[in-house]
Amino acid sequence: MERGLKPMDAEQLRECGHKMVDFIADYYKTIETIPVLSQVEPGYLHKLLPDSAPTQPESFQSVLDDVKAKILPGVTHWQSPNYFAYYPSNSSIAGFLGEMLSAGVNIVGFSWITSPAATELEMIVLDWLGKMLKLPEDFLSSGQGGGVIQGTACEAVLVVLLAARDKVLGRVGKKSLEKLVVYASDQTHSSLQKACQIAGIHPQNFRVLKADSSTNYALSPDLLSETISHDVDMGWIPFFLCATVGTTSSTAIDPLLPLGKIAKKNGIWFHVDAAYAGSACICPEYRHYLDGVEEADSFNMNAHKWLLTNFDCSALWVKDRNALIQSLSTNPEYLKNKASQANMVVDYKDWQIPLGRRFRSLKLWMVLRLYGLENLQCYIRNHINLAKYFEGLVAGDSRFEVVSPRIFSLVCFRLLPPDDNEDVGNKLNHDLLDAVNSTGRAFISHTVLSGKYILRFAIGAPLTEERHVAAAWKILQDEASALIGVP
Ligand SMILES: Cc1ncc(COP(=O)(O)O)c(C=O)c1O
Repeated sequence: MERGLKPMDAEQLRECGHKMVDFIADYYKTIETIPVLSQVEPGYLHKLLPDSAPTQPESFQSVLDDVKAKILPGVTHWQSPNYFAYYPSNSSIAGFLGEMLSAGVNIVGFSWITSPAATELEMIVLDWLGKMLKLPEDFLSSGQGGGVIQGTACEAVLVVLLAARDKVLGRVGKKSLEKLVVYASDQTHSSLQKACQIAGIHPQNFRVLKADSSTNYALSPDLLSETISHDVDMGWIPFFLCATVGTTSSTAIDPLLPLGKIAKKNGIWFHVDAAYAGSACICPEYRHYLDGVEEADSFNMNAHKWLLTNFDCSALWVKDRNALIQSLSTNPEYLKNKASQANMVVDYKDWQIPLGRRFRSLKLWMVLRLYGLENLQCYIRNHINLAKYFEGLVAGDSRFEVVSPRIFSLVCFRLLPPDDNEDVGNKLNHDLLDAVNSTGRAFISHTVLSGKYILRFAIGAPLTEERHVAAAWKILQDEASALIGVP
């Protein structure tokens, strides 16, 4: 580096930027040979890096060398084709280029005036995506509703919970906060619990309704109805229901239509969390899982999970944007401007928790334009076909069972417990998970359903092909044989 700081010298950017792109391209070329789950011990990096920042500049090359030698060993490679854990978090060239452009222009688009294109592009691409998902018109920006990009599904459920809370308190009076009740199944993502904590909902007022194998882990409308009736009789105030399309543990699907009707009858805000499975609903053959979304007040899916849009990009649509604005808007003098004051524009600062916001719509726009709907549908279908293939492999080995129905690209399975002893079975599956993950050649995760320890095999990394699925199955079989012997 030259003396005298030139932090935005275009020629330096060109030189280092090209090197960085080369570095990342090489990373993707070799990614499948690297252990997918990082094998380092806690605290490993403290031993490798100095205690304080350098006083004098270092060369870009020396930083890159450290990335290779010290950082990458501590990375779990979510983009590896051997990654089958949790849910995917997709990267793509289009998403990557959009991120790059967003970093390049580096705006802070809290109000329309701070970068009109950022607000308007976000409205447009969320309308595009809303139409791809065949969301009802009242979720689109032409009416009272509209879409907004949140960082994560956790932020999405928090902002709609706050909007719903303030809407009901406006009706029943602020002193009734302690009477407000939230409903969801025990399969709902933990983000709702966190949102309740932040929103001041008493933990006892969060009705976690049991869902079991009799409904394939979906929330029962009858159970919801009975619980609400009982609560109303006792003087509680039901105000928020969260249903999930594609639960985190097993991709269970709550029946939106009957649940939504119950919510409407009782004046309850109805939120639909389709963080993972929402992407699949751009395919006509999976869209029916969203039937009933017309009853919802808000709907959320993560383009950063399974729609090739680099993290973070969580798309949230609401029918009544004013409910969000009433809850989250502030109007300090230093942010006042003509367009906002005249109510001519959307100011996304009033639809989210932070003030500042990135130009995230660029990457989603790039993905939708550079790939197009048909390619994206094929992408989803390919992963679902690979999951069907894996399901068949599991079903063909008598030592294993597929535990809950495979609907999208997640297969829940386990080694059968010896002599029907569930405790031994749980330990065995736990040991199998550890054995597979410590090979570094595949990474899977687990859950517990009805007290049973279950292995989750989620297909959805952009580089995964049939040969990677077959190789992971071979590892699972070999490690199973080492634990319990061959069939
Ligand atoms: C159904 C569901 N909802 C919410 C989330 C949380 O997503 P995020 O990390 O975007 O907050 C997940 C994460 O896997 C999920 O599966």
